Amino acid sequence: MCGIIGYIGREEKASDMIMEGLAKLEYRGYDSAGIALATPSGILVEKTKGKLVNLADHLAQIGFPKGYAGIGHTRWATHGEPSDINAHPHWSQNHDVVVVHNGIIENYMQLRQELLQNGDTFLSETDTEIIPHIIAQYYEKDRDPVRAISQAISRMRGSYALGIMFADRPGELYAARKDSPLVVGLGRHENYIASDIPAVLSHTRDVYFLEDYDIAILDTEQIRIVDRAGHSVSRDVFHVTWDVAAAEKGGFPHFMLKEIHEQPHVVRETLNSRLLDDVDAPKMEDLGISKEVLDGLKRIYMVACGTSYHAAMVGKYLIERVARLSTIVETASEFRYRDPIIDEKTLVIVVSQSGETADTLAALRMSKQAGAKVLGIVNVVGSSISREADYVFYTWAGPEIAVASTKAYSCQLAAMYLLTAHFAMLRGKMTPEEFHELKGDLIGLPAKIGEILNQEEEIKKIVDAVDPLNVFYVGRGLDYYTGMEGSLKLKEIAYLHSEAYAAGELKHGPIAMIEPGTLVIGIVTQKSLVEKTISNLKEVKARGAQVLCIATEDVDPSLMDGVADERIIIPAGNWMFTSLLANIPQQLIAYYMSVKKGYDVDKPRNLAKSVTVE
Ligand code: F6R
Repeated sequence: MCGIIGYIGREEKASDMIMEGLAKLEYRGYDSAGIALATPSGILVEKTKGKLVNLADHLAQIGFPKGYAGIGHTRWATHGEPSDINAHPHWSQNHDVVVVHNGIIENYMQLRQELLQNGDTFLSETDTEIIPHIIAQYYEKDRDPVRAISQAISRMRGSYALGIMFADRPGELYAARKDSPLVVGLGRHENYIASDIPAVLSHTRDVYFLEDYDIAILDTEQIRIVDRAGHSVSRDVFHVTWDVAAAEKGGFPHFMLKEIHEQPHVVRETLNSRLLDDVDAPKMEDLGISKEVLDGLKRIYMVACGTSYHAAMVGKYLIERVARLSTIVETASEFRYRDPIIDEKTLVIVVSQSGETADTLAALRMSKQAGAKVLGIVNVVGSSISREADYVFYTWAGPEIAVASTKAYSCQLAAMYLLTAHFAMLRGKMTPEEFHELKGDLIGLPAKIGEILNQEEEIKKIVDAVDPLNVFYVGRGLDYYTGMEGSLKLKEIAYLHSEAYAAGELKHGPIAMIEPGTLVIGIVTQKSLVEKTISNLKEVKARGAQVLCIATEDVDPSLMDGVADERIIIPAGNWMFTSLLANIPQQLIAYYMSVKKGYDVDKPRNLAKSVTVE
């Protein structure tokens, strides 16, 4: 995830403070870094691709001054590959405004077009570069920085945390935010802005958390916060008591828990990247899949590994059921060695968080060589898969630091929902009116995830009260795939043997394993299959298993009486999207089981975050 640090102080040490702050943000993952420094003769900007040491070496080489005020940024590529040019900070046309930005500006193409028509030119491929251009446009009119920022942000749709400097105001720093965190740190004769507390923690423990649409104005002695209309607002000072390690995790004990809690935000980012307020179809032109292309296809493969494979399973189920397109899902390690039928009438969709998984990458290359078009559903911009695929659908989960994938999976599912709708509309299986309704359900998803996260304490209590020998996850339809993901997570981080079964398959073998000490987690969210799954749960209950139901609130509770020892009730809604919701309690179950057993949650044994070898 991108990181922001800004410093202004009486002592001539701004570039040192900024480099130190950026180093504190390195743990978040980044691919390039940059710095802007106020000097009497204007703002200096330097930026480099790669690790911070590259920037540090470069600054040393050119004798970069220390200065009194500046902003810095570590970039995690979103729009445009990792490069010196795409790194932040970005300039306005006349070099009078400089900006660093975290977040995504959704309508940047449209704004960029307008600016181009005005004669502006752009250096980078980023969405960020339009921001200083627009601020400068307004600033030129009356030299009022707050009004210029406020007018600029009223034009932008999306999320942003901004650090801003004006060339003719070297004694001031500006900050603004919406849907992307930003704090202002209070020092003595010096003040800070930062996207994350660790960046400033060794200098101050007193911060303001900016709220949406706040604009902060900092000089060496004071901090003023105003709203969009320019009226002063007061924010409480928050005294940070966490140590640095806890602060890196946003106050959570583990990255995994932090990432679980980031899901409402990142799922919204993924959805927003493809949804427009006034258009009843997902925005997918860049994927190169038109009606003609779809009609000409003989087959679709989805290829992935691990958690991404489970997202592919959900995608296949939905694409077949809603868009009526037959789709084959395969694990990449099998696909690449079995000589599958691939030709130019084949679409291969590869799914990967890291974009570097060796087997998935090999499947991609093999498919391209055989003439197929490849669509990558990828989280990491600039990764090998994102570069080699013909088309890319980015999930906007931000960097996932915990080895066990959580937020990236939820974003992959959001991508699958959008892709399904796209295919279905192209094939005339979904009308704009139906999509309109679906869009409402999609937009409601982040709030529902939040509701489930509010049950964290109860879920922890359930986990604390069980001590199973082994665990079965069972469900039907989409609930089966949800169980597969739940089971993988439990194995990965709690080292507890578990298996996922289609509920109807239990009686064909695995039911022989059921005995006291077995925990069966029944996922019950698919209306037409509720009674069938509950019957299967009755069978395991009768054989001594302990049963935990994860059910939607529209399931008749009396059906679970006498069957479920424990139940976790999640919000009801569109049948497609409960697959994402039902997985949230599963993530928390795995997490708390691992914590209870005292394991290293974020770095489970024998596993690597990115599997770049076979
Ligand atoms: C599970 C997990 C792994 C990955 C798998 C594929 O929590 O993280 O199973 O999903 O290694 O990785 P990507 O998605 O990076 O291709």
